[in-house]
Amino acid sequence: MFVLIIELLLLGVVLLATLYYTFLLPPRYPNNIPAVPFWVALIPFFKDVDQSDIFRRYIQQPLQTHGAVKLFFGAQWNILVHKPAYLAEIFKNEDVYQKSGNQKKIPHSVLAQFLGDNIISSHGDAWRNYQSVVKPGLQGNFDTDRIAHNALQLCELLKESQRIAGTKGVSVQELLQRYSVANCSEVILQTNLNALDSASAPINVLQSAVKREIFKPIFMNFPLLDRLPFPSRVRARQMVNRFKNELRRALVNSQKHCQASGLATLTDGLGRRMLDAKNSGMWNEKQLLDNLTVAFVAGQENPQLCMISTLYLLAMHPEAQEKLYAEIQNKQLDRTSPDPDAFQDMPFLTAVIYESLRLFPPIGQLVNRKASEDVLLGGSIAIPKGTYLGYNCYSTNRDPAAWGPTADSFEPGRWGDSMVAIQKHYRLRRARAEFISFHGGRRACLGEKFAVLQMRITLVTLIRAFSWSLDPSWVDRKTPVQTLGSFATPRPSSC
Ligand code: HEM
Repeated sequence: MFVLIIELLLLGVVLLATLYYTFLLPPRYPNNIPAVPFWVALIPFFKDVDQSDIFRRYIQQPLQTHGAVKLFFGAQWNILVHKPAYLAEIFKNEDVYQKSGNQKKIPHSVLAQFLGDNIISSHGDAWRNYQSVVKPGLQGNFDTDRIAHNALQLCELLKESQRIAGTKGVSVQELLQRYSVANCSEVILQTNLNALDSASAPINVLQSAVKREIFKPIFMNFPLLDRLPFPSRVRARQMVNRFKNELRRALVNSQKHCQASGLATLTDGLGRRMLDAKNSGMWNEKQLLDNLTVAFVAGQENPQLCMISTLYLLAMHPEAQEKLYAEIQNKQLDRTSPDPDAFQDMPFLTAVIYESLRLFPPIGQLVNRKASEDVLLGGSIAIPKGTYLGYNCYSTNRDPAAWGPTADSFEPGRWGDSMVAIQKHYRLRRARAEFISFHGGRRACLGEKFAVLQMRITLVTLIRAFSWSLDPSWVDRKTPVQTLGSFATPRPSSC
């Protein structure tokens, strides 16, 4: 019996050692950048910690010192890049550092089933094909009246929540989600999902369920587990299919409705363009569903996160909020039909949005590029062919070498005082990859124009209607994305 136990123990040790050497030992190359210990990826399983706490404690210092580190994430070793000059090089050399998303990296995962093969994570001919459909759908003019209408409805819903909450703060997370779903579906995809009208609209229920199921840290770090038929993962897959089909159903119905009522307004819209691509045989059914899903997720989730962070920052900085309020009052914009050109002369509003995007980029970290050949990054870091690379936007956007000692502070004034100065500064920071919230180069975000426009209308409406402060009972997190308890005090003569 004793011998058997010893043998089993030895076997266990050999198995663990094999596992460690096969998967967990940092790769030897590149040999001039450090590796973050693999167990850092395990911390979220044992402790409820803010991701940015982990980042500050274990990753930030080596990342900023060396410009890049080896990081264990998604069950493999990757290179996480921080230094702006390296990122500028990566964005420029699109064919060497090729996009390679979850559909390639972890094709069996629930995440890959959710986002599939899409415009953001594809490369080469597939990307060119997707881009030819999507880009024109995101370049035109957007229905500003519709966004303004939704923003006013959001104000009414906030007031109603506040009436129910009494003296307690209002959690704005759920309402901002419904509001950004409404804007994305109605203005970008030209369909109606009733997200703002009804909390129990299928899209709201499905989206919350999908988010809960998909982004569980254990499956994000060890997607291998998605090969096993855990009942919760089987449910997650069903949920994903229902979500994608709901988007498709709504889109097809809206198009039919428009055709039946003789409305020809949708020809250039993204929703219509995607359906046309499918109907003409350019896309198959899966390509339609995958690109529709990614357009919805990118077009809804990122603006929602940006709204939350900006309200958080304005609540933390009442002087900036009052300065913004004064600029808005000065402009006297029409509440229901704001003139988009008028925003071109609102420097503080623009600076607040850029500064919020700098400090709290909605896409904090992404690892979705793969070296197509052996390559020297920055002339010194030897990246072997097949290595995955990514960036930490949060870190690069706060690089002290680029942004100085106040890199971590909210200072909208750093962007400049006039629109001309702000836009010049913005272009420069982007060209140098010191501000990468919208990525850069050929693969820069295609929804930036819509995102900034929506942020402008939303802030103008919400700051004009309420003064914002943080609920004192809210536990502050360094990334204010989980939930934001706010006191939204109606201003006199608000919406
Ligand atoms: C504040 C809001 C937004 C932020 C911060 C943001 C950020 C980004 C980032 C970082 C990327 C590159 C991702 C990567 O590295 O692979 C990206 C790509 C993209 N974004 Fe956005 N995004 C926002 C809003 C939107 C909106 C509203 C849409 C509209 C559907 C959109 C559509 C896209 C598309 C289509 C791409 C892929 C571009 C390509 O690879 O050709 N984004 N976005």
